[in-house]
Amino acid sequence: MNIRHLKNPFEDVTDLFVLSTRKTDYCIGIIYDEGYVGHIYYGKKLTGHNFSGLVRINEYPFGKAGKEREKCSFHDMVSLEYPSHGIGDYREDCLSVETPEGNSAVLPLYDSYEIIEGKPKIAGLPASFGDRNDVTTLILHCLDRILNLKVDLVYSVFYDNDVITRSVRITNGSNEQIFIKKVYSACLDMDNRNFEALSLHGSWARERHIEKSVLTHNKTIVESVRGESSHQDHPFLALITPNTTQETGEVYAMNFVYSGNFRTGAFLDQFDNVRMFMGINPVDFKWKLLPGECFEAPEVVMTYSSDGLGSMTRAFHDFYRQHLIRSPYLHKKRPVLINNWEATYFEFDTGKLLDIARRASELGIEMLVMDDGWFGKRNDDSCSLGDWTVNEDKIKGGLKALVDEVNRLGMKFGIWFEPEMISPDSDLYRKHPDWAIHIEGREGIRSRNQYVLDLSRQDVCDHVYEQVASILRSANIEYVKWDMNRQLTDIGSAYLDSDRIGELFHRYVLGMYSLQDRLIKEFPYLLLENCSGGGGRFDPGMLYYSPQIWCSDDTDAVERLSIQEGTALIYPLSCIGAHVSDCPNHAVGRTTPFETRGHVALAGTFGYELDITKISEEDVNMIPEQIDMYHRYNDLVREGDYYRMDSYLDNHTHDCYGVVAKDKNEALFTYVQVLGRVNYKGRRIYLKGLDSQKEYTVDDGETYTGDVLMNAGLLIPEMSGDFRSRLIHLEVKNG
Ligand code: GLA
Repeated sequence: MNIRHLKNPFEDVTDLFVLSTRKTDYCIGIIYDEGYVGHIYYGKKLTGHNFSGLVRINEYPFGKAGKEREKCSFHDMVSLEYPSHGIGDYREDCLSVETPEGNSAVLPLYDSYEIIEGKPKIAGLPASFGDRNDVTTLILHCLDRILNLKVDLVYSVFYDNDVITRSVRITNGSNEQIFIKKVYSACLDMDNRNFEALSLHGSWARERHIEKSVLTHNKTIVESVRGESSHQDHPFLALITPNTTQETGEVYAMNFVYSGNFRTGAFLDQFDNVRMFMGINPVDFKWKLLPGECFEAPEVVMTYSSDGLGSMTRAFHDFYRQHLIRSPYLHKKRPVLINNWEATYFEFDTGKLLDIARRASELGIEMLVMDDGWFGKRNDDSCSLGDWTVNEDKIKGGLKALVDEVNRLGMKFGIWFEPEMISPDSDLYRKHPDWAIHIEGREGIRSRNQYVLDLSRQDVCDHVYEQVASILRSANIEYVKWDMNRQLTDIGSAYLDSDRIGELFHRYVLGMYSLQDRLIKEFPYLLLENCSGGGGRFDPGMLYYSPQIWCSDDTDAVERLSIQEGTALIYPLSCIGAHVSDCPNHAVGRTTPFETRGHVALAGTFGYELDITKISEEDVNMIPEQIDMYHRYNDLVREGDYYRMDSYLDNHTHDCYGVVAKDKNEALFTYVQVLGRVNYKGRRIYLKGLDSQKEYTVDDGETYTGDVLMNAGLLIPEMSGDFRSRLIHLEVKNG
């Protein structure tokens, strides 16, 4: 059983719930007859569950919680599953409200429970899924009896994945409206083990760099208030014990299946207890809940590893591949594409695109993607977002003729959209200025010359959907890059009542999800790639709709090492959009060998983003070889287990990571020597993840056992020059 319920297991605990995965246990205790939902344990799997000496509620310095005089002190120190506001838990709480009288306190206490085989959906939101063989769900029904507010704490246990997901449902059972002012989805209270916080931080073109900091009494907060998960902070947090490596140390990780404003954090309280939390950011959030209505908060994915970050990574990768990404392309090789953005920017027409396509098809490239600039009057970024009609001055003869011609060359065709946006200089804005998110009477802040559409409105969503869908219906378009190039400001809506403006950020995200949902329902075989100015919305929420996301507008092979390392810490390589681009690199100005660019892009979806008609013959000649390499290795890269040997972010000299097949019969490691130096000895790399007994033949023809490669290492001779790279392929012959 993944979930066990024990009645009166020991003193002061009326109900114990043990949630078990293959390697972990998570224990919840209902404390006292009042029914506090207490957190008892999360960590390595246990053989027994007698926690009587651990709970020790009688020994709280201020006496039993049942003694009314010191309830406040009790609230402020007990480990809780879902602490609430205004009742004396002065640490960061998870839930606060505003009643018609203006009060904010809320105290949901345990009422009953339910165990379901499988997992209920979360209305309107992306969420992990699984059938009764994969997952069991515990719902703790809690109730604030004064407010008649029902709070359901939902825990889904994915036994084989070592993952527990959490979400929360709030139902107004009263006869009056109530506002939810804050609703997190998960909280984890535990003892401190000198934890460090590990998070992913960045900026445009420098997303998801790994950062660590010591956990102290000052709150560590990782958050976005930008309307999307963002380039800057990432909806992920891990607490790790000191000196955690890829193989050793304890890791508690949370990742949010949500693409809008979030807040996660952790800190030590006055008694050095740890509290870790994650949910929708309460900044600018206020949700009106009418009698009978239910609000469902997005899902948090939690995992615990007692053997370092590598196991955490592989748990997330498998979980997302098995229980989150739905696309029919998930387990398929994606067509090798060429995108014209860095090749032409806005300056292209049918002739130019076909020149690229012709050359590309000769070299084995399988799809042409027409990026920004094909619609309205768009020749730069100053206009036309919202006017999704083909610009026939550029696309002469129309879209269908172009697509047909590309198809005749044996290639697929893909197209770029930015459906959530509106340019002030557009027919759409001239007709519907109130469709932009704006505050009446205030000149909106422009970013990249554009405003954001008010997706809280059904009429706006319907219009946007029809515009995009009718283009897709008009020709054989097999791929869409869905972009989102600015963050939200001027939070106001011509549609929402003043007491619902606090819903706009979340309703925007719900509107965007509903659009993507409609799109993949009408076009189930469309390959959808999400994007947000590169990697500004690379999160599990978007992966529910698209099997791949453009990882960053920085395509430089060296910068990509760190961006892709941080991204692959959580997300499988199969969803990381990566292309070979031209040099000097357009983002950082660096020149790296074409070969290295290919090796780095191989740890992703793989494609090209350059003017193939202009690059050197030497580079062009390498393309068929690179495409061959992609076809040879992509099954392994897409489906295998990810291992990290060395990190350029840490050592400033070289990077090494690899993928090992599930049956351990094949592996591919990538080594990048970032800076050349005199080292006659070469560098020894200690491979990981192999079967120690199996005999692996390396591509130089030598055969070694796995334990030799992992313990004695493999010598990589020094290569002359900077930014050089090498792929190391291993295979068990007759394996
Ligand atoms: C964003 C994307 C780029 C490109 C441009 C087009 O920046 O990340 O790849 O599509 O928009 O305007």
